[in-house]
Amino acid sequence: MKKTVEETLLERRSIRRYERQPIAEEDLEFIREAIRNTPTSYNGQQYSVIEISDQALKEQLAEIVGQKQFKTSARVYAFLSDFNKIELGAQALGLDNPGFETTTDGLIVGTVDATLAMMSAIVAANSRGLGTCPIGYARTVAPARISELLELPRGVYLVCALAVGIPSEMPDLKPKQPDDLLFFQNKYGTDDLAEKVVAYDKTFTDYHRNRSSNPSDKGWIEEILGYYREGMSYDMLQALRDRGYLQKS
Ligand SMILES: Cc1cc2nc3c(=O)[nH]c(=O)nc-3n(C[C@H](O)[C@H](O)[C@H](O)COP(=O)(O)O)c2cc1C
Repeated sequence: MKKTVEETLLERRSIRRYERQPIAEEDLEFIREAIRNTPTSYNGQQYSVIEISDQALKEQLAEIVGQKQFKTSARVYAFLSDFNKIELGAQALGLDNPGFETTTDGLIVGTVDATLAMMSAIVAANSRGLGTCPIGYARTVAPARISELLELPRGVYLVCALAVGIPSEMPDLKPKQPDDLLFFQNKYGTDDLAEKVVAYDKTFTDYHRNRSSNPSDKGWIEEILGYYREGMSYDMLQALRDRGYLQKS
């Protein structure tokens, strides 16, 4: 099933339940092509992708990361920030490598490239009627174990995983921030920004209460602050340094 660009972008939602069916080879190839044509900083293509189809490995990842989409989706892609390939090339050609990944901007560049590549995959997969769900916990929960399992060399870290498969659920679309909260004109913000944030919190909380699956009384801001607290419990600085990143500032 092919969708229009409008359907692809505006009907996308994260899918966490999948049919146990393989993805058509033609769709997998289209996802690869879309990933390959992602724009990248300096055209340095500071990313790689591991396609994970081995069910035993997917189950191991589900267990470690605690996200069942690893197990139930037909395919998982691990999007990596990758400065290993340029290092290998520099060594082979006898060129001096300044080690960009040791700097903050190097980290940002690799992360942006890998994330844009993931978005290419999301759009490509959704345009073929497939469901997708990014899995950021693959980065945070157990970075050393995941790096070992996927045999990541120095200069490579897993930015985000993406589950892809045939959807067996179609959850309600989440209400997103309205235009006047999201888009500013010519400068940042508006005078009544706090009121608008609180109004969106109410919109989202009403959706939370009334949605067809997993209703909840939790407010949007309250929920997000909880996620931030959890995120702050992971020592990402050390995890990134262990991968060869951020050794300079
Ligand atoms: C970088 C990133 C990491 C994410 N990590 C997870 C995750 O680990 N588990 C999960 O179930 N959803 C994850 N999500 C999906 C978000 O929860 C989802 O995009 C958000 O709730 C908005 O819902 P929607 O995608 O249906 O519009 C992630 C999304 C992004 C962009």
